[in-house]
Amino acid sequence: MNGQVAEKNSKKDTVLSLDSVHTHIAQYHILHGVSFEVPRNQVTMLLGRNGAGKTTTMRTIMGLWQAASGTITLNGEEIHSDETVTIAKRGLHYVPENMGIFSGLSVEENIRLATRKNKIDPERLEWVFSLFPAIEKFWNWPAGQLSGGQKQMLSISRSIIEPCELLLVDEPSKGLAPAIIENLITAFNQLKANNTTILMVEQNFRMASMLGDHLAIMDDGVVVHEGEMAEFVADKEKQSKLLGLSMESHQ
Ligand SMILES: Nc1ncnc2c1ncn2[C@@H]1O[C@H](COP(=O)(O)OP(=O)(O)OP(=O)(O)O)[C@@H](O)[C@H]1O
Ligand SMILES: [Mg+2]
Repeated sequence: MNGQVAEKNSKKDTVLSLDSVHTHIAQYHILHGVSFEVPRNQVTMLLGRNGAGKTTTMRTIMGLWQAASGTITLNGEEIHSDETVTIAKRGLHYVPENMGIFSGLSVEENIRLATRKNKIDPERLEWVFSLFPAIEKFWNWPAGQLSGGQKQMLSISRSIIEPCELLLVDEPSKGLAPAIIENLITAFNQLKANNTTILMVEQNFRMASMLGDHLAIMDDGVVVHEGEMAEFVADKEKQSKLLGLSMESHQ
């Protein structure tokens, strides 16, 4: 038994680690010591009610808010003092809650801008088209004319057009039709199979439980639970205690 535990621990491989991270926005103290880990080649779900601090945590990881104290490490190296561009160059791709696309540019230009050398890998693009047919259909359209769901697909397509070490995605299913959510689940499962580590905020508990391996639950700017998704899914009491009605309200 002890041998098994030791073996499990020695195999544990953490890509990203947050330790006692505090973030202030203007005069407000929003994150009060956030700590959790993102294991390699797994999907980690960041859950919690509205206003719990999930987006602030994502933005702090990306350097869009500066952590006032605490440490954020990527593969053991501290990144919490780095600029956002440096963090992105280290292989962290971020799909923000508000999608962050350029409305005046075409779908193609939006995707091209997300590539390092302005070159799109044709094979990877075929794969993106297969996941999101609307991206192919509206390839030459101004992105501003896409529907909300199509913009979300463009935003995700941009983030996966090149491989990355860690993909941070904030509520990808928001505003999407059920059939598109199924495509998303397939896409993220394929990314996972291709050794991409994912940290995702997701209020749709069906999607969260289908994709997640690991989870961290936030409340009032701290992580109140961290563990395996399978264990959490099996524990209805823990779900209602830690998530209450907040999940159902988003389904
Ligand atoms: N720019 C800002 N200025 C002031 N307060 C902010 C700002 N952004 C977020 N907050 C506050 O920080 C807290 C956490 O917000 P955050 O957006 O991180 O929550 P969340 O968990 O992502 O919520 P949701 O599920 O609604 O997206 C909230 O109380 C929010 O009002
Ligand atoms: Mg949010």
